[in-house]
Amino acid sequence: MSEPEVKYHPDARRPSRATRVREYLLLFLLPLIPMRYRARAYYEIESAHNLFTERSLYRNLGYWAGNPATLDDACEAMAELLGKTVGMSEGDRVLDAGFGFGDQDLYWAKRFAPDRIVGVDIIPSHLALARRRVHEQGLDGRIDLRLGTATELTFVAESFDRVVALESAMHFVTRADFFTEAYRVLRPGGTLALADTIPLTQSSTSRVLDYLQRALGAMPKDNAYPSDVYHSKLAAAGFVDVQVVSIRDEVYPGYIRDLADKLGQPQIVSRVNGAMRQMWRGWVDSWNQGADASSFADQDYVIAVATKPAG
Ligand SMILES: C[S@@+](CC[C@H](N)C(=O)[O-])C[C@H]1O[C@@H](n2cnc3c(N)ncnc32)[C@H](O)[C@@H]1O
Repeated sequence: MSEPEVKYHPDARRPSRATRVREYLLLFLLPLIPMRYRARAYYEIESAHNLFTERSLYRNLGYWAGNPATLDDACEAMAELLGKTVGMSEGDRVLDAGFGFGDQDLYWAKRFAPDRIVGVDIIPSHLALARRRVHEQGLDGRIDLRLGTATELTFVAESFDRVVALESAMHFVTRADFFTEAYRVLRPGGTLALADTIPLTQSSTSRVLDYLQRALGAMPKDNAYPSDVYHSKLAAAGFVDVQVVSIRDEVYPGYIRDLADKLGQPQIVSRVNGAMRQMWRGWVDSWNQGADASSFADQDYVIAVATKPAG
């Protein structure tokens, strides 16, 4: 009998039994893993076969303004929004902190023609797949992906024109340390832009859900502050012209709708980890009940942009 067609994306594989056992073990141990290493464990679980995208390997919630047809399109729209916000253009040296499987770098390289995109991420297996995809598209000379953490960048000062973090900074230990590092590696007049999840207010409606969201989502408590504090932290790192704009309504409703639809699809059931499907199902249900019990209900989603003063 021939292998069933891989419908979701060319790199998706049916996970082996060993992979599944390892995933469940990691999920079970997740809250016990020190926060510094937790994002790594979390994204080891969120491998290609556990994503909801179909033709890409994006892992962000998507920008749903204008009703994109698919999650892939919405994720790409988020990359487009961030690329435009940071002012990416021809000849730029760009640093991407938290590249995932490299989709946005492949997109930006073609869309904005920067001179070079350097990416850092912490997951070795994702790096290997991302590098392979860059190579397959003949972009090795323009996209350079490396293993490394956004909070201890190994680059010399003033070596980038733009720094971006697409839905990754909520995991950094800490986000404020990344702001300091981004400031250091940007040239004077250079720009930092982030797509990021933060709480809507400092005090949430449910401390238990708050804790669970942070513990299971690998988000340190030190990063749990609303947009006015976010603004001050960017200013404290030395940035000027700081803007932090909520795009919450263009993110969560669209993502939840897509998720609700996908969770019932047989292809998803056969490849996405059952415990993770349960977790997402819980979030969809609570969002649809409009309850305070939704872990998204207290969440904001922002686009932040800031400039290093020019000389
Ligand atoms: C939600 S995913 C977003 C991936 C990608 N930007 C996208 O939109 O598809 C968050 C990413 O941040 C990465 N990450 C988490 N902590 C990191 C750190 N300290 N330094 C660099 N990357 C990190 C994760 O490994 C993961 O790839």
